Amino acid sequence: MNFENLLIEIADGTAVVTINRPKALNALNEQTLGELQQAFVDFADNADVQVIILTGSGKKAFVAGADIAAMQPLTALQARKFAKLGHQVMHSIGACPKPVIAAVNGFALGGGCELALGCDIRLVSENARFGQPEVNLGVIPGFGGTQRLARLIGKGLAMELVLTGDLIDAAEAYRIGLANKVVAQEDLLDTARALAAKIIGKGQYAVRLAKEAIHNGLEMDLDRANRYESELFGLCFASHDQKEGMQAFLEKRPAEFTGN
Ligand code: CAA
Repeated sequence: MNFENLLIEIADGTAVVTINRPKALNALNEQTLGELQQAFVDFADNADVQVIILTGSGKKAFVAGADIAAMQPLTALQARKFAKLGHQVMHSIGACPKPVIAAVNGFALGGGCELALGCDIRLVSENARFGQPEVNLGVIPGFGGTQRLARLIGKGLAMELVLTGDLIDAAEAYRIGLANKVVAQEDLLDTARALAAKIIGKGQYAVRLAKEAIHNGLEMDLDRANRYESELFGLCFASHDQKEGMQAFLEKRPAEFTGN
Protein backbone atom coordinates (compact mmCIF):
# COMPACT_ATOMS: atom_id res chain seq x y z
CA MET A 1 0.00 0.00 0.00
CA ASN A 2 1.59 3.28 -1.11
CA PHE A 3 -0.09 6.46 0.00
CA GLU A 4 0.86 10.13 -0.30
CA ASN A 5 -0.38 11.27 3.12
CA LEU A 6 -0.30 8.08 5.17
CA LEU A 7 2.67 6.16 6.55
CA ILE A 8 1.89 2.52 7.24
CA GLU A 9 4.09 0.08 9.17
CA ILE A 10 2.97 -3.49 9.70
CA ALA A 11 4.70 -5.68 12.28
CA ASP A 12 3.63 -8.42 14.70
CA GLY A 13 0.03 -8.31 13.50
CA THR A 14 -0.33 -4.57 14.13
CA ALA A 15 -0.57 -1.88 11.47
CA VAL A 16 0.44 1.60 12.62
CA VAL A 17 -1.11 4.22 10.34
CA THR A 18 0.35 7.72 10.68
CA ILE A 19 -1.47 10.61 9.05
CA ASN A 20 1.40 12.60 7.64
CA ARG A 21 0.60 16.22 6.72
CA PRO A 22 2.61 17.95 9.46
CA LYS A 23 2.59 21.37 7.77
CA ALA A 24 -1.21 21.45 8.12
CA LEU A 25 -1.22 19.68 11.51
CA ASN A 26 -2.41 16.54 9.66
CA ALA A 27 -5.64 18.21 8.52
CA LEU A 28 -7.90 15.97 6.46
CA ASN A 29 -8.20 16.92 2.80
CA GLU A 30 -9.93 14.87 0.11
CA GLN A 31 -6.74 12.97 -0.76
CA THR A 32 -6.10 11.96 2.86
CA LEU A 33 -9.70 10.92 3.43
CA GLY A 34 -9.64 8.80 0.26
CA GLU A 35 -6.41 7.15 1.39
CA LEU A 36 -7.78 6.43 4.87
CA GLN A 37 -10.89 4.86 3.41
CA GLN A 38 -8.85 2.66 1.07
CA ALA A 39 -6.43 1.66 3.85
CA PHE A 40 -9.22 0.40 6.12
CA VAL A 41 -10.90 -1.50 3.29
CA ASP A 42 -7.51 -3.14 2.55
CA PHE A 43 -6.85 -4.00 6.23
CA ALA A 44 -10.09 -5.96 6.41
CA ASP A 45 -8.64 -8.54 4.00
CA ASN A 46 -4.97 -8.37 5.03
CA ALA A 47 -4.09 -11.52 6.99
CA ASP A 48 -0.94 -9.83 8.36
CA VAL A 49 -3.04 -7.24 10.21
CA GLN A 50 -5.08 -8.06 13.33
CA VAL A 51 -5.25 -4.63 15.00
CA ILE A 52 -4.79 -1.12 13.60
CA ILE A 53 -3.35 1.88 15.45
CA LEU A 54 -4.15 5.30 13.99
CA THR A 55 -2.04 8.32 14.95
CA GLY A 56 -0.75 11.66 13.62
CA SER A 57 2.76 12.67 12.64
CA GLY A 58 4.74 15.02 14.87
CA LYS A 59 4.23 15.85 18.52
CA LYS A 60 1.59 18.55 18.21
CA ALA A 61 -1.42 17.13 16.46
CA PHE A 62 -3.35 13.93 15.90
CA VAL A 63 -5.51 15.73 13.32
CA ALA A 64 -6.37 19.46 13.60
CA GLY A 65 -9.59 19.01 11.66
CA ALA A 66 -10.84 18.87 8.13
CA ASP A 67 -8.66 21.03 5.87
CA ILE A 68 -10.03 24.55 6.22
CA ALA A 69 -8.14 25.92 3.20
CA ALA A 70 -9.60 23.18 1.02
CA MET A 71 -13.13 23.68 2.40
CA GLN A 72 -13.33 27.48 2.28
CA PRO A 73 -14.31 27.81 -1.45
CA LEU A 74 -16.63 24.78 -1.60
CA THR A 75 -20.18 25.05 -2.87
CA ALA A 76 -22.98 23.46 -0.84
CA LEU A 77 -23.03 20.40 -3.09
CA GLN A 78 -19.25 20.01 -2.95
CA ALA A 79 -19.35 20.38 0.85
CA ARG A 80 -21.99 17.67 1.09
CA LYS A 81 -19.80 15.38 -1.05
CA PHE A 82 -16.80 16.14 1.18
CA ALA A 83 -18.82 15.36 4.33
CA LYS A 84 -20.01 12.11 2.78
CA LEU A 85 -16.41 11.12 2.10
CA GLY A 86 -15.62 11.76 5.77
CA HIS A 87 -18.57 9.58 6.74
CA GLN A 88 -17.32 6.83 4.43
CA VAL A 89 -13.98 6.87 6.26
CA MET A 90 -15.69 6.50 9.64
CA HIS A 91 -17.88 3.77 8.17
CA SER A 92 -14.87 1.85 6.84
CA ILE A 93 -13.26 2.01 10.30
CA GLY A 94 -16.42 0.73 11.99
CA ALA A 95 -17.02 -1.91 9.32
CA CYS A 96 -13.40 -3.11 9.46
CA PRO A 97 -13.69 -6.31 11.52
CA LYS A 98 -10.37 -5.63 13.23
CA PRO A 99 -10.09 -3.36 16.28
CA VAL A 100 -8.88 0.18 15.59
CA ILE A 101 -7.07 2.08 18.34
CA ALA A 102 -6.68 5.87 18.04
CA ALA A 103 -3.38 7.00 19.55
CA VAL A 104 -4.25 10.66 19.98
CA ASN A 105 -0.92 12.47 20.17
CA GLY A 106 -2.06 16.11 20.30
CA PHE A 107 -4.87 18.25 18.88
CA ALA A 108 -7.93 16.22 17.86
CA LEU A 109 -10.21 18.98 16.64
CA GLY A 110 -13.24 19.00 14.36
CA GLY A 111 -12.72 16.19 11.84
CA GLY A 112 -9.81 14.99 14.03
CA CYS A 113 -12.07 14.54 17.04
CA GLU A 114 -14.58 12.85 14.74
CA LEU A 115 -11.88 10.52 13.41
CA ALA A 116 -10.92 9.56 16.98
CA LEU A 117 -14.62 9.01 17.73
CA GLY A 118 -14.85 6.68 14.73
CA CYS A 119 -12.15 4.43 16.26
CA ASP A 120 -12.91 1.65 18.75
CA ILE A 121 -10.59 2.76 21.59
CA ARG A 122 -8.90 6.11 22.27
CA LEU A 123 -5.51 6.24 23.98
CA VAL A 124 -4.46 9.82 24.56
CA SER A 125 -1.20 11.65 25.32
CA GLU A 126 -1.12 14.23 28.13
CA ASN A 127 -0.85 17.10 25.64
CA ALA A 128 -3.95 16.04 23.68
CA ARG A 129 -6.76 18.56 23.20
CA PHE A 130 -10.21 17.62 21.95
CA GLY A 131 -12.91 19.85 20.55
CA GLN A 132 -15.52 20.47 17.89
CA PRO A 133 -14.68 24.10 17.06
CA GLU A 134 -16.70 24.20 13.83
CA VAL A 135 -19.06 26.93 15.08
CA ASN A 136 -16.02 29.26 15.12
CA LEU A 137 -15.90 28.74 11.33
CA GLY A 138 -19.61 29.15 10.69
CA VAL A 139 -20.29 25.44 10.18
CA ILE A 140 -21.28 22.37 12.17
CA PRO A 141 -19.34 19.10 12.57
CA GLY A 142 -19.59 17.22 9.28
CA PHE A 143 -17.95 13.83 9.84
CA GLY A 144 -20.35 12.50 12.50
CA GLY A 145 -19.41 14.68 15.48
CA THR A 146 -22.97 15.69 16.31
CA GLN A 147 -23.92 12.01 16.44
CA ARG A 148 -20.98 9.95 17.72
CA LEU A 149 -19.95 12.49 20.37
CA ALA A 150 -23.48 12.56 21.83
CA ARG A 151 -23.65 8.75 21.77
CA LEU A 152 -20.29 8.45 23.58
CA ILE A 153 -20.37 11.21 26.20
CA GLY A 154 -24.10 12.01 26.36
CA LYS A 155 -26.32 14.70 24.88
CA GLY A 156 -25.68 17.49 27.40
CA LEU A 157 -21.88 17.39 27.28
CA ALA A 158 -21.90 16.97 23.49
CA MET A 159 -24.23 19.97 23.16
CA GLU A 160 -21.88 22.07 25.29
CA LEU A 161 -18.77 21.11 23.30
CA VAL A 162 -20.42 21.55 19.89
CA LEU A 163 -22.30 24.78 20.73
CA THR A 164 -19.33 26.54 22.39
CA GLY A 165 -16.49 25.14 20.30
CA ASP A 166 -14.51 24.89 23.55
CA LEU A 167 -11.43 22.67 23.69
CA ILE A 168 -10.90 20.22 26.55
CA ASP A 169 -7.65 18.72 27.76
CA ALA A 170 -6.72 15.05 28.08
CA ALA A 171 -7.69 14.80 31.75
CA GLU A 172 -11.18 16.15 31.06
CA ALA A 173 -11.51 13.86 28.00
CA TYR A 174 -10.72 10.94 30.29
CA ARG A 175 -13.15 12.15 32.95
CA ILE A 176 -16.06 12.29 30.51
CA GLY A 177 -15.26 8.97 28.80
CA LEU A 178 -13.92 10.38 25.56
CA ALA A 179 -10.44 8.98 26.30
CA ASN A 180 -9.91 5.41 27.52
CA LYS A 181 -6.53 6.22 29.04
CA VAL A 182 -4.04 9.12 29.29
CA VAL A 183 -0.29 8.49 29.11
CA ALA A 184 2.89 10.54 28.62
CA GLN A 185 3.44 11.36 24.96
CA GLU A 186 6.69 9.36 24.79
CA ASP A 187 4.79 6.27 26.01
CA LEU A 188 1.77 6.62 23.72
CA LEU A 189 2.74 4.35 20.84
CA ASP A 190 4.25 1.70 23.12
CA THR A 191 1.06 1.71 25.18
CA ALA A 192 -1.01 1.35 22.01
CA ARG A 193 1.22 -1.47 20.74
CA ALA A 194 0.97 -3.27 24.10
CA LEU A 195 -2.82 -2.98 23.98
CA ALA A 196 -2.81 -4.28 20.40
CA ALA A 197 -0.58 -7.23 21.44
CA LYS A 198 -2.93 -8.05 24.31
CA ILE A 199 -5.91 -8.15 21.92
CA ILE A 200 -3.93 -10.18 19.35
CA GLY A 201 -3.29 -12.78 22.08
CA LYS A 202 -7.03 -13.53 22.25
CA GLY A 203 -9.11 -15.55 19.82
CA GLN A 204 -9.41 -13.29 16.78
CA TYR A 205 -12.65 -14.91 15.66
CA ALA A 206 -14.23 -13.84 18.95
CA VAL A 207 -12.54 -10.43 18.95
CA ARG A 208 -14.07 -9.60 15.57
CA LEU A 209 -17.53 -10.80 16.49
CA ALA A 210 -17.30 -8.82 19.76
CA LYS A 211 -16.46 -5.63 17.84
CA GLU A 212 -19.35 -6.31 15.47
CA ALA A 213 -21.77 -6.96 18.35
CA ILE A 214 -20.93 -3.71 20.15
CA HIS A 215 -20.59 -1.57 17.02
CA ASN A 216 -23.82 -2.68 15.33
CA GLY A 217 -25.80 -3.52 18.46
CA LEU A 218 -25.54 0.02 19.86
CA GLU A 219 -27.64 1.25 16.94
CA MET A 220 -30.48 -1.21 17.71
CA ASP A 221 -33.08 -1.29 20.45
CA LEU A 222 -32.08 -3.50 23.38
CA ASP A 223 -34.25 -6.49 22.47
CA ARG A 224 -33.00 -6.64 18.89
CA ALA A 225 -29.43 -6.01 20.01
CA ASN A 226 -29.59 -8.87 22.51
CA ARG A 227 -31.05 -11.19 19.88
CA TYR A 228 -28.20 -10.13 17.56
CA GLU A 229 -25.70 -10.88 20.34
CA SER A 230 -27.22 -14.37 20.77
CA GLU A 231 -26.73 -15.05 17.05
CA LEU A 232 -23.08 -13.98 17.18
CA PHE A 233 -22.55 -15.92 20.43
CA GLY A 234 -23.88 -19.01 18.65
CA LEU A 235 -21.60 -18.35 15.68
CA CYS A 236 -18.56 -18.50 18.01
CA PHE A 237 -19.37 -22.18 18.49
CA ALA A 238 -18.71 -22.81 14.79
CA SER A 239 -15.06 -21.86 15.38
CA HIS A 240 -11.96 -23.86 16.22
CA ASP A 241 -11.06 -21.13 18.72
CA GLN A 242 -14.17 -21.79 20.85
CA LYS A 243 -13.46 -25.52 21.08
CA GLU A 244 -9.78 -24.86 21.76
CA GLY A 245 -10.34 -21.99 24.24
CA MET A 246 -12.75 -24.00 26.37
CA GLN A 247 -10.75 -27.24 26.08
CA ALA A 248 -7.58 -25.40 27.11
CA PHE A 249 -9.38 -24.01 30.18
CA LEU A 250 -10.55 -27.50 31.16
CA GLU A 251 -7.03 -28.88 30.68
CA LYS A 252 -5.52 -25.94 32.63
CA ARG A 253 -3.20 -24.91 29.78
CA PRO A 254 -2.87 -21.79 27.59
CA ALA A 255 -5.14 -21.80 24.53
CA GLU A 256 -3.62 -22.05 21.08
CA PHE A 257 -5.89 -19.86 19.00
CA THR A 258 -5.77 -19.91 15.20
CA GLY A 259 -8.30 -17.20 14.44
CA ASN A 260 -10.58 -19.79 12.85
N1 CAA B 1 -6.95 22.96 8.12
C1 CAA B 1 -5.94 23.46 7.39
N2 CAA B 1 -4.78 23.91 7.90
C2 CAA B 1 -4.65 23.84 9.24
C3 CAA B 1 -5.67 23.35 10.07
C4 CAA B 1 -6.86 22.87 9.45
N3 CAA B 1 -7.86 22.33 10.16
N4 CAA B 1 -5.25 23.44 11.35
C5 CAA B 1 -4.03 23.96 11.32
N5 CAA B 1 -3.66 24.23 10.05
C6 CAA B 1 -2.42 24.81 9.57
C7 CAA B 1 -2.38 26.32 9.88
O1 CAA B 1 -3.06 27.04 8.89
C8 CAA B 1 -0.89 26.54 9.87
O2 CAA B 1 -0.45 26.63 8.52
P1 CAA B 1 0.66 27.74 8.11
O3 CAA B 1 1.87 27.38 8.90
O4 CAA B 1 0.81 27.52 6.64
O5 CAA B 1 0.08 29.06 8.48
C9 CAA B 1 -0.31 25.26 10.46
O6 CAA B 1 -1.33 24.27 10.30
C10 CAA B 1 0.01 25.37 11.94
O7 CAA B 1 -1.16 25.84 12.60
P2 CAA B 1 -1.16 27.12 13.57
O8 CAA B 1 -0.09 28.09 13.17
O9 CAA B 1 -2.55 27.62 13.65
O10 CAA B 1 -0.71 26.42 14.94
P3 CAA B 1 -1.08 26.90 16.42
O11 CAA B 1 -0.22 26.09 17.33
O12 CAA B 1 -1.03 28.37 16.54
O13 CAA B 1 -2.60 26.46 16.63
C11 CAA B 1 -4.48 24.97 16.44
C12 CAA B 1 -2.95 25.09 16.59
C13 CAA B 1 -5.15 25.45 17.73
C14 CAA B 1 -4.80 23.48 16.22
C15 CAA B 1 -4.96 25.83 15.26
O14 CAA B 1 -4.17 25.47 14.13
C16 CAA B 1 -6.38 25.64 14.90
O15 CAA B 1 -7.27 26.18 15.55
N6 CAA B 1 -6.67 24.88 13.81
C17 CAA B 1 -7.99 24.72 13.30
C18 CAA B 1 -8.83 23.81 14.19
C19 CAA B 1 -10.23 23.69 13.64
O16 CAA B 1 -10.97 24.64 13.57
N7 CAA B 1 -10.61 22.46 13.24
C20 CAA B 1 -11.93 22.19 12.71
C21 CAA B 1 -11.91 22.30 11.22
S1 CAA B 1 -13.52 22.22 10.51
C22 CAA B 1 -13.92 20.59 10.47
O17 CAA B 1 -13.18 19.72 10.89
C23 CAA B 1 -15.26 20.30 9.87
C24 CAA B 1 -15.71 18.91 9.95
O18 CAA B 1 -16.18 18.42 10.98
C25 CAA B 1 -15.71 18.07 8.79
